[in-house]
Amino acid sequence: MENKYENLFSEIEKKILVLIIQAKIMDDLTDIRNKYLSKKGEFSALMNKIREADDKKAFGEAYNFARRKIETALSEKLAEFQKAALNEKLHAESIDITLPGKNYNVGVMNPFYKVKREIEDIFVGMGYTVENGPEVDTDKYVFELLNIPKDHPARDMQDTLYIDDNLLLRSHTSSVQAHVMEHANGKPIKIICPGKTFRRDDDDMTHSHQFAQVEGLVIDKNINLGNLKATLELFAKKMFSKDSKIRFRSSYFPFTEPSVEVDVSCFNCKGKGCSVCKGSGWIEILGAGMVHPNVLKMSGYDPEVYSGYAFGIGIERVAMLRYGIDDIRRFYQSDVRFIEEFNKKDED
Ligand code: DAH
Repeated sequence: MENKYENLFSEIEKKILVLIIQAKIMDDLTDIRNKYLSKKGEFSALMNKIREADDKKAFGEAYNFARRKIETALSEKLAEFQKAALNEKLHAESIDITLPGKNYNVGVMNPFYKVKREIEDIFVGMGYTVENGPEVDTDKYVFELLNIPKDHPARDMQDTLYIDDNLLLRSHTSSVQAHVMEHANGKPIKIICPGKTFRRDDDDMTHSHQFAQVEGLVIDKNINLGNLKATLELFAKKMFSKDSKIRFRSSYFPFTEPSVEVDVSCFNCKGKGCSVCKGSGWIEILGAGMVHPNVLKMSGYDPEVYSGYAFGIGIERVAMLRYGIDDIRRFYQSDVRFIEEFNKKDED
């Protein structure tokens, strides 16, 4: 049915539809909406004419019909713009899978640190806590409290760099024993201390003026040599091989009595004799012993009540044995080819 008001809206409707078609960006649509369809917009204003219309219903229908057409055109155009914007974004973010990739180098851990962490893990698993001590220390802690008085011949084997007469780079981590005992105030102790040590000692490929040790110290009532042996055997089994055995050879350290040199059965030949163990079936891995009564006394422990054991493990030495490294200096040279070899070995 004809609506006599249709023509009233058709001109402006056409004009707006053309503007919508010509819109270039989303803002153009907003402008059109504001200019024509807002409350005081040109198109909306036509509604006021309803007052003069004799058939108000027909007028309203014609108005609404035109308005819907415009609204539909606006939302269709808006959808078009949104789709175009999305496509543009997707295109900009698309990945060209034919481009060559970037090559990232993944860092690997120096075998020294791997072994250090393993040693720490093993002892922490046995209830030890990890302590630290100063690398530059006084004569008192490095020597005197360890039963090595001035002019003691044992000092010759541990010549080091002196900052002055009293201050020196520690020649062993045993210096930490006295520090820990001082702080423990006569209470039981169960610690390890990994750290750098310095010594005039670079005669061959297996020695360096700087190397690292892990010191161990246990003090309590009723501690005996059997406890030390069980502890070190467990360490050897975890570090080297399930069927590793250890043996004690008597030795001398001023701070332990008795003192022992500890050998582990050769994990390469299982004790038959090979180049790794130089034919003996055993490999020396560390020094240890029962804490000397003088050492206990000097640090405030009554040797009649308390006893203890101590040991010193060379970290590089363990790593060299474990990985078959011939030259200790390789640990410090930061040669990536060397370090990467060990990751390969671990994967095997
Ligand atoms: N301090 C010794 C060294 O540097 C190693 C050592 C031996 C440490 C016996 C100890 C020990 O605690 O009881 O060669």
